[in-house]
Amino acid sequence: MKVLLVNGSSHEHGTTMAALSEMIKVFEAEGVETEVFQLKDPISDCLQCGGCRTKGCCVLQDGGVNEFVEKARQADGFVFGTPVYYAHPSGRIFSFLDRAFYSNAGAEAFRFKPAASVAVARRGGTSATLDALNKYFGISQMPVAGSTYWNMVHGRVAADAPEDEEGMQTMRNLARNMVWMMRCFVAGKEQGVPYPDSENIACTNFIR
Ligand SMILES: Cc1cc2nc3c(=O)[nH]c(=O)nc-3n(C[C@H](O)[C@H](O)[C@H](O)COP(=O)(O)O)c2cc1C
Repeated sequence: MKVLLVNGSSHEHGTTMAALSEMIKVFEAEGVETEVFQLKDPISDCLQCGGCRTKGCCVLQDGGVNEFVEKARQADGFVFGTPVYYAHPSGRIFSFLDRAFYSNAGAEAFRFKPAASVAVARRGGTSATLDALNKYFGISQMPVAGSTYWNMVHGRVAADAPEDEEGMQTMRNLARNMVWMMRCFVAGKEQGVPYPDSENIACTNFIR
């Protein structure tokens, strides 16, 4: 089993990574493989050019979006971590996720795999940030993992994170819950529980 963790901060070793690292310790103790995908810069916005509909991947080459989607096909679960900027996720993770989810038709690399979002902040805006990230999961048939509190760690810099004792505990419990969910899915597969047979999307635009 493998979990792919995305660091949506420009700081490779910042607060977001401190929160993700707390989860990684649990994954590793439970024998779950991990890989951190560090978002690169710059990352272009989605252009809604439609190129992915014919090419099957994003036509823009920056940001490692297509590389990530290929890795996602092999992963069993996902964690998307971001710093809070003005009470929302980082611009880079928004642009990255727009392109990764939109270009991957039917979210084929993601669907039916557990996902969690993690927000870090000095003080406020974490809940709104988590809401924004969780929307990618809801539209992509991804079960959302929860913890013993909302998935947030407080700190201005990485060194502050361990002082948020409950935040770090929330990260560890989140990782435990993800491991449990992934194991349940493996057990279901072994028992022959089929994936749901989703209907083709009617794609109405509310225009008559
Ligand atoms: C542009 C910008 C906006 C920010 N907005 C907020 C905010 O709304 N609420 C907050 O608590 N912290 C805010 N912060 C602080 C960061 O969320 C905080 O320093 C975080 O720990 C950075 O994580 P990182 O080291 O992983 O990048 C902001 C920082 C920047 C650069």
